[in-house]
Amino acid sequence: MQKISVLGTGMVGKAIASKLIQLGYQVMMGSRTNNNEKALAWVAENGNLASTGTFADAAAFGELVFNCTKGEITLEVFKQAGTENFKGKTILDISNALDFSKGMPPTLNPEYCNTNSLGEAIQQLLPEAHVVKSLNIVTADVMVNANKSGGDVTMFVSGNNAEAKTQAVTILNQFGWTDIIDLGDISSARGTEMMLPVWLRVYGAFKSPYFGFKIVRPS
Ligand SMILES: NC(=O)c1ccc[n+]([C@@H]2O[C@H](COP(=O)([O-])OP(=O)(O)OC[C@H]3O[C@@H](n4cnc5c(N)ncnc54)[C@H](OP(=O)(O)O)[C@@H]3O)[C@@H](O)[C@H]2O)c1
Repeated sequence: MQKISVLGTGMVGKAIASKLIQLGYQVMMGSRTNNNEKALAWVAENGNLASTGTFADAAAFGELVFNCTKGEITLEVFKQAGTENFKGKTILDISNALDFSKGMPPTLNPEYCNTNSLGEAIQQLLPEAHVVKSLNIVTADVMVNANKSGGDVTMFVSGNNAEAKTQAVTILNQFGWTDIIDLGDISSARGTEMMLPVWLRVYGAFKSPYFGFKIVRPS
């Protein structure tokens, strides 16, 4: 696999896309328009493996797709991108269903927690794609440099398709993750998406996003 799409021009999209370029992948960053200022600046900084286009252009380009879009509108983005463009592809979903409307810290949108998750909603929207939820429980910089958390922290993967999870784990390894736990099918994303309130409170206490979660267990 050589071609990867990154949907999203925020700090997560930029961190993931830049790391993938360093690893030698061809990367297209997608946004609402094909002349997004942040995406054009990212292309200028990242040489000829980097390109940009609309969400639909990017979705069509990649053999694997990272979803780095705002949780509130992420399902809308997949519709804008053309659901047919995701057929048979692995979607590594990093989004969180956070609601910032009542200020900080944000809360979880009740529609996508406890008995549902954004990961499952994306899988339901795109039944012919293979959604893998991962990386949503750390800050962007730690996603692509696991050791920046300060230790050998744990990452989770959730998804219905074993091959898609293997593809995701290969990339996680390239991002420096070694302690990776497969939680099972995509409904297990409920658990990791509901870790966000804990993440936000630890961030509030530390005033730094450089940390991660560690699951200790008997070897
Ligand atoms: N920030 C972190 O460290 C972090 C950590 C863990 C998980 N996450 C999750 O990762 C995702 C990305 O976070 P982020 O902070 O990088 O960026 P973000 O600001 O949450 O999302 C940026 C992307 O959302 C798109 N977008 C915003 N409003 C839109 C709308 N109305 N219609 C269509 N697209 C819209 C933007 O499109 P344009 O490109 O067209 O502007 C942009 O590509 C989020 O779901 C977040 O919860 C973030």
